[in-house]
Amino acid sequence: MRLAGKVAIVTGGGSGNGRGIAQKFAAEGAKVVIGDINEGGSQETLNLLKGNGHSFMRTDVTKKEEVDNLVGQVVDKYGGVHILVNNAGIVAFTPFLELEEEEWDRVFDVNLKGPFFCSQAVAREMIRLGIHGSIINITSVEAMIVVSSSGHCQPHYNASKGGLEMLNKAMALELSSAKIRVNAIAPGVVETPFTENALKNPQAMSWIMDRVPLKRVGQPQDIGNAACFLASDESDYITGATIVIDGGWVIQ
Ligand SMILES: NC(=O)c1ccc[n+]([C@@H]2O[C@H](COP(=O)([O-])OP(=O)(O)OC[C@H]3O[C@@H](n4cnc5c(N)ncnc54)[C@H](O)[C@@H]3O)[C@@H](O)[C@H]2O)c1
Repeated sequence: MRLAGKVAIVTGGGSGNGRGIAQKFAAEGAKVVIGDINEGGSQETLNLLKGNGHSFMRTDVTKKEEVDNLVGQVVDKYGGVHILVNNAGIVAFTPFLELEEEEWDRVFDVNLKGPFFCSQAVAREMIRLGIHGSIINITSVEAMIVVSSSGHCQPHYNASKGGLEMLNKAMALELSSAKIRVNAIAPGVVETPFTENALKNPQAMSWIMDRVPLKRVGQPQDIGNAACFLASDESDYITGATIVIDGGWVIQ
């Protein structure tokens, strides 16, 4: 059991990648706390988790008071927090010239401000309690490349994930003296509700397959496996890094 005795907060654990991460963590012995606005999905995730003692705490990561409340409750209930996965994220498809401020803010609030609130609250508790923890940020290959198949422009998503890549490095450096490691996972296309529509469209699917050397889409387990490595002591000398999980897309 690679995560025995650890307590992990997984934001957005009520669906897709977050569910895959929560399942892997629980199978490896961690107590998992899901912070999500999706109550039904989070309950379904809880039902799938091995072991006991897991919980769901309804949390909107864009609201600082809700994030502080989540972290405070986790520390009260479990005695500490060793792992945070900033996984909650949203996408919206609007071309740059048509993009309105409100949509820009919504995407940035969830994808970048949420990880800031969560990481700051968790890191402060880790430092207070002397925990040498692990923070994992779920970014995207779209922090590195712009994918605009079939007019699916998402400049705000690209910018928010690019910002999270740099926040990942800045936090890794600042938190290194407290022995808190901070790393990112950059998924390519993973089969989740997030990509459901694209993956149902044969044209979009063939566009994707033309670009993915391993000729399959990713699964939430692929993300869960890497997150488990980054959460565990096996990655004890790794910080500020990004693991790209995309079947080889961005190497071309
Ligand atoms: N699926 C992919 O192909 C893919 C590719 C690259 C990166 N990602 C990233 O992976 C992460 C998870 O995506 P997914 O594919 O599992 O999507 P998903 O839509 O299946 O799940 C996202 C989860 O985040 C939660 N969430 C949304 N806003 C929230 C908020 N304000 N507070 C708390 N929770 C909130 C949702 O309720 C949902 O449970 C995202 O950060 C996404 O950008 C996904």
